[in-house]
Amino acid sequence: MTASRLLGAAGIVPPAEGERPVQDGRAPADPAALLLSWLPADDAPERPLATLATVDEDGVPDARTVLVSAVDGVSVAIHTDVGSRKAQQLRARPVAALVVRWPEVARQVVLRGSVRRDTAAGERAAFDRRSRYLQLLALLNTDQLANRPRVEREDAFARADLAHDEPAMPASWAGFWLLPDEIAFWEGAEGGPSRRVRYTRGDAGWTRTYVAG
Ligand SMILES: Cc1cc2nc3c(=O)[nH]c(=O)nc-3n(C[C@H](O)[C@H](O)[C@H](O)COP(=O)(O)O)c2cc1C
Repeated sequence: MTASRLLGAAGIVPPAEGERPVQDGRAPADPAALLLSWLPADDAPERPLATLATVDEDGVPDARTVLVSAVDGVSVAIHTDVGSRKAQQLRARPVAALVVRWPEVARQVVLRGSVRRDTAAGERAAFDRRSRYLQLLALLNTDQLANRPRVEREDAFARADLAHDEPAMPASWAGFWLLPDEIAFWEGAEGGPSRRVRYTRGDAGWTRTYVAG
């Protein structure tokens, strides 16, 4: 059976030789080092996409795609509208899970833990790093506008584009840091099983365990 057949429906490319710390058992004792090597720097224009899972007031999970705005050690920040459902859920239940998946390579990282609001300076820095399109979106993307016909929404966007030389950060812009107690790094393999390294935070620091994919 060929390797591509073995990879089956996933159809994803394993990390290159020398770039497989999980498969090769070279995961560092500190998960921050591994996270740093997988995620782009905060000022890299291309932001990683992640699935952010939260819990609503009835205990029902919710999830959506977000951009990873910043990384500090093992903590990861996302930014959003303070009135959004996710922001309301994070305020009421400050816990979350975040999944980052690399579509071009067989990697995934899952972070779980508690959440705290970003600082004013962090929120400003994240807004300043957003593209102009996303800054304008943060200014005008309301439910009220969403209920207008497409031409009216396009017109509102065009007018906002003309009106704002440098879009100012709206008061509704908010950031949240996920402070993980558990981080699992997953790596696929060609002709072999996938493997994860799971880090769990304890009183004495991080415990590292290899687990099945
Ligand atoms: C590729 C992509 C990137 C997105 N990035 C963000 C983001 O960084 N922040 C955000 O609030 N919403 C982002 N969204 C929109 C969210 O997925 C979601 O629809 C919106 O924030 C409302 O979510 P909520 O009602 O659960 O709060 C993104 C959507 C996509 C498809």
